[in-house]
Amino acid sequence: MRYLGLESSCDETAIAVWDSEERQILYEQVLTQIDLHQSFGGVVPGIAIREHLKGFQILLEKFNETFDFGKIDYLVVTHGPGLIGCLGMGVAYAQAIQLLLNIPVAGINHLQGHAFSPFLEKYQEDKNFVLKSLCPHLGLLVSGGNTLLFVIECKGNKYGFKILAQTVDDAAGEALDKGAKMLNFPYPGGPYIEKCAQKGDNQFIQFPRAFPQKDEWKFSFSGLKTSLRYYLEKKSLNDVETEKASICASYQQAVIDALVKKVEQACKQQSFKSLGLSGGVANNDCLRRSMEKIANRYGMPFFIPSKHYCGDNAAMIAFTGNFMQVPLKLNPNRTLEETI
Ligand code: KG4
Repeated sequence: MRYLGLESSCDETAIAVWDSEERQILYEQVLTQIDLHQSFGGVVPGIAIREHLKGFQILLEKFNETFDFGKIDYLVVTHGPGLIGCLGMGVAYAQAIQLLLNIPVAGINHLQGHAFSPFLEKYQEDKNFVLKSLCPHLGLLVSGGNTLLFVIECKGNKYGFKILAQTVDDAAGEALDKGAKMLNFPYPGGPYIEKCAQKGDNQFIQFPRAFPQKDEWKFSFSGLKTSLRYYLEKKSLNDVETEKASICASYQQAVIDALVKKVEQACKQQSFKSLGLSGGVANNDCLRRSMEKIANRYGMPFFIPSKHYCGDNAAMIAFTGNFMQVPLKLNPNRTLEETI
C-alpha cells in the first residue's frame, strides 16, 4: 500500500510517499515558510495560507514529473490540529486529488503524526521491527504549539492514545520562542537559545518550574516567560548582554526540567515498554540527553526521530497512515481524543 501524505498545519507545506510493503519513504519534499514569517516574530496566518496554496501547486507538479500518481493507493492529509485556513489548503488539495484519481482519503491528526515519528526510521532500518511489542509506549511531544505527555496502547492491531498531561497555557516551544524574542533572537528562537546556552551556567537563575508535584498532570510555561520578563526589566542592556549565555542556559533548563520531571513521575507510577520524544523541540540536544537518561534508568528502549523528522513534515503523516485512519474532518483544536 502506498500512502501519499500531505501536511500544512502551520508554516511548512509538505508531501511524502510511504510504502507499507517496502517499509520505505519513497518520496518527500518540504517547503518551509520560516523566512517569510521571521520579520513578524511569529506565524502570520494570512501569509501561511497563501504560501500553502502556492506551495502544494509547486510540490505536486514536481511530484508528477518524477512519480506516477497512479501508483498511489491512499491519500492521508493532516486535518487538525493547526491553523484552520492552513489545514483547509491541504484538505482541499487532497480532495481534488481524490476526485482526479478516485482513491480513498483519510484524515491524520498532526499530533499522532509526531507521536509515531520516532518509529519511522526504525521501520525503515529493521524490517522485523513492530511497534506493537513496545506498547504501552510513553511519548513526549514538544513543539511550537503543543506539549503533550501521552501513552500509545495497542489492542489486537488497533492503536489508541491516552493523554497523561498537556499544557494549560503556552507550549514548551512557544515559551522558548517568546523568551528568545525578549532576548532579541530571531524567530523561531529555540535553536538560538540552545546555541547561546552552551557557554552559560544553567544554575545562574532559578526560574520557576510549574506543577512539580507527582499528582499534577499538567504543564505550564507562561509563568516562566513572565519571570524572565521581570528579570530582564530589572537589568540594564549591558548586564543582559554580559549574562545572556547564563540567562539562556537557566531558562532552557527550566523548560527541560519541567518536561523531564513529568516523564519521570509517569515512569514511577506505571511501567512502559518504551520511551519516545518528538516535535521541533526534540532537536534540542540537552532535552534529548535528559530523556535518554530516563530511558536508561528505567531500562526502556528510547526512540527519537533524526533531526530531519523532528519538525513538521509529511513523511510522518504518510507513515501514520499505517496505524491510524479516521474519516476526514477539519478540526483546528488541540486534541487527540478522537482516538482514545
Ligand atoms: O514541530 P515544530 O517544527 O513546529 C511547530 O510546532 O510549529 O516545532 C517548532 C518549535 C519552535 O518552537 C522552535 O523554537 C523549536 O521547535 N525548536 C527548538 C530547537 N529547534 C526547534 N527548541 C529548542 N532547541 C532546538 N534546537
